[in-house]
Amino acid sequence: MTKLEDLIERKGSIALGGGQARIEKQHEQGKMTARERLETLFDPNTFVEIDAFVVHRCYYFGQEKQHFPGDGVVGGYGKVDGRIVYAYAQDFTVVGGSMGEVQANKICKILENARKVGAPVVGMNDSGGARIQEGLDGLEGYGKIFFRNTAASGVVPQITAIMGPCAGGAVYSPALTDFIFQVNKTGKMFITGPDVIKSVTGEQIDAEKLGGAMTHNRVSGVAHFMASDDTDCINQIRRLLSYLPSNYRDAAPTIFNGDDPNRIADQLDTIIPDNPNKAYDMYDVIKAITDGGEYMDYMGMYAPNMITCFARFNGRSVGIIANQPKAMAGCMDINCSDKAARFIRTCDAFGIPLLTLVDVPGFLPGSTQEHGGIIRHGAKVIYAYCEATVPKVTMILRKAYGGAYLAMCCKDLGSDIVYAWPTAEIAVMGAEGAANIIFRKATPEERAELIDEYKREFNNPYKAAERGMVDDVIIPSTSRQMIIAAMEMLDGKVVEAPRKKHGNVPL
Ligand code: HXC
Repeated sequence: MTKLEDLIERKGSIALGGGQARIEKQHEQGKMTARERLETLFDPNTFVEIDAFVVHRCYYFGQEKQHFPGDGVVGGYGKVDGRIVYAYAQDFTVVGGSMGEVQANKICKILENARKVGAPVVGMNDSGGARIQEGLDGLEGYGKIFFRNTAASGVVPQITAIMGPCAGGAVYSPALTDFIFQVNKTGKMFITGPDVIKSVTGEQIDAEKLGGAMTHNRVSGVAHFMASDDTDCINQIRRLLSYLPSNYRDAAPTIFNGDDPNRIADQLDTIIPDNPNKAYDMYDVIKAITDGGEYMDYMGMYAPNMITCFARFNGRSVGIIANQPKAMAGCMDINCSDKAARFIRTCDAFGIPLLTLVDVPGFLPGSTQEHGGIIRHGAKVIYAYCEATVPKVTMILRKAYGGAYLAMCCKDLGSDIVYAWPTAEIAVMGAEGAANIIFRKATPEERAELIDEYKREFNNPYKAAERGMVDDVIIPSTSRQMIIAAMEMLDGKVVEAPRKKHGNVPL
């Protein structure tokens, strides 16, 4: 055998991972192998593998006699839509993708290289956790990964896909990254599994309910995106990458789809119902103003009273934060505050301008919210907006009351341009609520009269416009044109942040 033949044979055997039988088992479970996942992620023929030859150094429990190709993870770099991306995929066919010392070293090298060259990192998780035979070495490996995830945070986008089991402390690497995708049915995440829970607390719950994709997308808010299978997940990751820059210094790619920047959206002139208590769908507004009506929901199933999504305006990537009148009348609560704050900080970290669409009656009243810490959680949104230095454009469609008006990126929180529709009601509170306090002693007739007067005086955009809190009152159908004009004007925005080590965001 020549040296070349020897190399080819070695690579061929590594490429087979845990062998044909385990590959078939993986497929039977509806999962791709690690290599198939990487091939699907990258543009054809661009994946370059690194560290294929690494071997473990464990001598416990007969490990010295065992050979684990790639040590349960396949990694390297390649191109996604022509841009360099680093990625690794745990290989469940090899010792259940479990994390030993050298698997951790491989992942750490990928994270470090990605940070060094300014390329996004995609991690595809499918693992039984720390390799039990290695004792503390696997555990230490997780710690090393956490450290590098944190170092890379805000430097390059980090994306994790949960495509199989991900349990125990292993869940914290995904949680330290910017975006988590979870595949329905096959992806599971939990700190302690159903058996441990049963033995410690007596609670009986199956793995799917405990940490399946539905649970983490809808209930816990741990996952940001759900996918129906591996292919769908990887396609969604490729789509998300198209909205993101490669790193914090670069701009996101500009992708034109031919939609006219001056397109008039007539339907917006009549979208706000006459009855202020009637809802409409904020997604209809988003579809009417974005390029081609397209957007990519972030945490779409969680806290639906606040929409957060990526979209494009004349080719530019923009992050949209919008109240949804169709859910809880668009009130702000704890969960939607967490969702919005995280999204705003993610966009700001990667230079993606923010568009805020406002129709908010206020923060949700009640002891559940107060005792759950709505003050602390709501403060996150305010902090995130104040701190964000990217272009910030706000459009007030209807209600904008009190603290929630402030929290939805008003002028004083640093919004660069605030537009209001003629239907906007910008006031310290609603007329009925105001009457309960200041017209308490009035007769019912007087009260009705005073409420009408309060509405006439304050439930409009013009008081705010008179004081420069609103830059312009615009015709709703021209919204797309006006947003694109504002975003183009703000392209050169430079903000000098005050000198400090780092701010102390309320957590
Ligand atoms: C070593 C492991 C392993 C592990 C799986 N395998 N997990 N080997 N260490 N953690 C091996 C199995 O022995 C098996 O080897 C192969 O991988 C496939 O596993 P199966 O059990 O056959 O697969 P399946 O039936 O699909 O079940 C998957 C599973 C189960 C639910 C993930 O393997 C499991 O419960 N694993 C242990 C999970 C766990 O308790 N991990 C915690 C470790 S401590 P063979 O040779 O038979 O094919 C931890 C702490 C981290 O993670 C803290 C970080 C801060």
